[in-house]
Amino acid sequence: MQPTQKLDASYWQGRYEAHQTGWDAGQITPPLRDYFVQLSGPNARRILIPGAGRGYEAEYLHGQGYPQVWVADVAPDALAALQTRVPDFPAEHLLLQDFFALTPAEPFDLLVEQTFFCALDPAQRPAYARQSAALLRPGGKLMGLLFDTEFSQPGPPFGGSAAEYRAYFEPYFDFVHFAPAYNSLKPRQGRELFICLRRKTEVKL
Ligand SMILES: C[S@@+](CC[C@H](N)C(=O)[O-])C[C@H]1O[C@@H](n2cnc3c(N)ncnc32)[C@H](O)[C@@H]1O
Repeated sequence: MQPTQKLDASYWQGRYEAHQTGWDAGQITPPLRDYFVQLSGPNARRILIPGAGRGYEAEYLHGQGYPQVWVADVAPDALAALQTRVPDFPAEHLLLQDFFALTPAEPFDLLVEQTFFCALDPAQRPAYARQSAALLRPGGKLMGLLFDTEFSQPGPPFGGSAAEYRAYFEPYFDFVHFAPAYNSLKPRQGRELFICLRRKTEVKL
C-alpha cells in the first residue's frame, strides 16, 4: 500500500488538468449534508475542509450562511472551480496550501473529511491525525467519512480498516461516532465509516 509516484501538488494539479477526478461526487454527499443539517444553524464556528477539491461542502455551508468556512488544497484548479461556481465565497478563505503546513492564527472548531485522508500516502496517516488535532481547539471536532475497505487498484485512493484508523486517532481524540455510514453515495455504500471525533483537551502534539 505505497504510492508508486510522489503525490505532490503537481500530481494533483495534473489530475484536475487531465479531468481524472473520479472521486468528485459533483455535490455534497448525503452523510455530510445530513450532519450539517442537524448543526444548530449558521454561526461563526470556524470550519476547515482540507483537501477540499472543488469544495461542494464549502459551497453548501456558505449557502447556509456560515461565514467562517475555509478550504485548503494544493491544486489551484480545484480552488478555482469553487471560486467560479461560488463567486461570493471569500477569496481569503481559499487556502492554496499543504494541509500539513497550515498554521492558522486561530484554531478551528470543525474539520470536515471527505476523500482527503484516502488520497494521502498512508505513511502520512499518523501525521494527519496529529495535524488535525493541532488545527482544532480542545473540544473541536473532526467529522466526515473514511473508507472501510481495501482497493484492488494501486492508490490513490488507499483503503484501510476501522481498527487501523483507531490507532492513529486515539492519542488525540475521543470517539463520538465511529461506525459504518448508512447513507453513503450508492457506489460507496457499505464501504465507508462515518466519523465524529472530539479533540481531547490534553494532547501531546
Ligand atoms: C481525492 S481528492 C478529494 C477532493 C474532495 N475532498 C472531494 O471529495 O471531491 C484529494 C484532494 O486533496 C488535495 N490534496 C492532496 N494532498 C494535499 C495536501 N497535502 N494538502 C492539501 N490538499 C491536498 C488534492 O489536490 C485533491 O484535491
